[in-house]
Amino acid sequence: MSAISDWSTLRKDFPILDQEVHGKPLIYFDNAATSQKPRSVIAALTHYYERDNANVHRGIHELSNRATSAFEAARIRSAKFINARSGDEIVFTRGTTEGINLVAAAWGAKNLKAGDVILLTELEHHSNLVPWQMLAQRTGAKIAYVPVTGDEGTLDLSRLDSLLTSQVKLFSMVHISNSMGTVNPVADMCAQARKRGIVTLVDGAQSAGHLPVDVQAIGCDFFAFSGHKICGPTGVGVLYGRQEILDAMPPYQGGGEMILTVGYDKTEFKHAPHRFEAGTPDISGPIGLHAAMDYLDGIGRENIWRHDQELAHYASEKLEALKNIRIFGPKKNRAGLVSFLLKDVHAHDVVTLADQAGVALRGGHHCTQPLMHKLGVESTARASFYFYNNQAEVDRFVDVIREIQKFFGN
Ligand SMILES: Cc1ncc(COP(=O)(O)O)c(C=O)c1O
Repeated sequence: MSAISDWSTLRKDFPILDQEVHGKPLIYFDNAATSQKPRSVIAALTHYYERDNANVHRGIHELSNRATSAFEAARIRSAKFINARSGDEIVFTRGTTEGINLVAAAWGAKNLKAGDVILLTELEHHSNLVPWQMLAQRTGAKIAYVPVTGDEGTLDLSRLDSLLTSQVKLFSMVHISNSMGTVNPVADMCAQARKRGIVTLVDGAQSAGHLPVDVQAIGCDFFAFSGHKICGPTGVGVLYGRQEILDAMPPYQGGGEMILTVGYDKTEFKHAPHRFEAGTPDISGPIGLHAAMDYLDGIGRENIWRHDQELAHYASEKLEALKNIRIFGPKKNRAGLVSFLLKDVHAHDVVTLADQAGVALRGGHHCTQPLMHKLGVESTARASFYFYNNQAEVDRFVDVIREIQKFFGN
């Protein structure tokens, strides 16, 4: 994939970015929460609803056939996007959160018992924490954590060997931390678990649309991500599961679409992945996601990754030059986001004032409350970037932060 010489042309694909907010040009730096959508994705959704809308898998008529073909083509496309071996390893979900809940409910209920251990990291998003806590409560399993070392948000992986005990049945880890920007070496982490026969799940919510992902190279059993963070629609996500493990899992929810035959006292289920997709699915979602994946791979995720990282390093260096600021996340190999705190200014005040200047940031615990407590803070302000952002926007953002500091007398 050749390098992109003119990123500003891509920006024109996103109509939403061309607007003013509070009388100032919009600078959208909340991409870790959700990304914007290019025209090609919006067009795919419009085309589907204007031409092909019908229910999938059941009809024999033309529109149903078209809808089914497009829906199943999106499954094959998703497999290619993360280098799964086939579409049978792709389950459509509502997003990362549902993917993890599906594994906790279906795999967890069958495979975990009292005394077993679920290993997580201290960096996890609530989505990769709460479902396991609920499962632990139901089964009597325990949860252990790979510790985070401090403001840099890196894991103490020297502890991994001793934490991967024979009680550990599942190791679930975030690929890129949404609040720190840490990039975890998930292939190494999964390899260590696999040597001991431990099942692995990678939360790819922040990675799938930002860097090339190869689930076979990572060697994980499960990989979950969300469409809306990778230029696709909200309400759709992908759960990758290694074929053998999906085939051995009981269903997640029961209903139409996931069955072969139903009697009054007995049901036979379809094979994976259909067994995990009960009821009428989100049909337009995967179709829009297909267009998003084509769009991103047209740019090249290695190009996107380089651009994200350059912008994040540029932003963190500029912020570091300010006084009275605490910056979180790794100094090297930072993903495309920067979390920070201004001395004596609440993160929500930073975000509110930045919004008045047209800059969309996020302030809060970023669904990583335990991590915030561990770092001794309630919240941070976060700027998160994507390929349609640029250095001029970062310059403006840093000027705005300086103005906020002045406003608070810092
Ligand atoms: C690291 C991480 N995991 C999981 C999620 C949950 O994603 P969703 O809300 O799309 O299910 C997010 C969302 O911000 C995230 O950043």
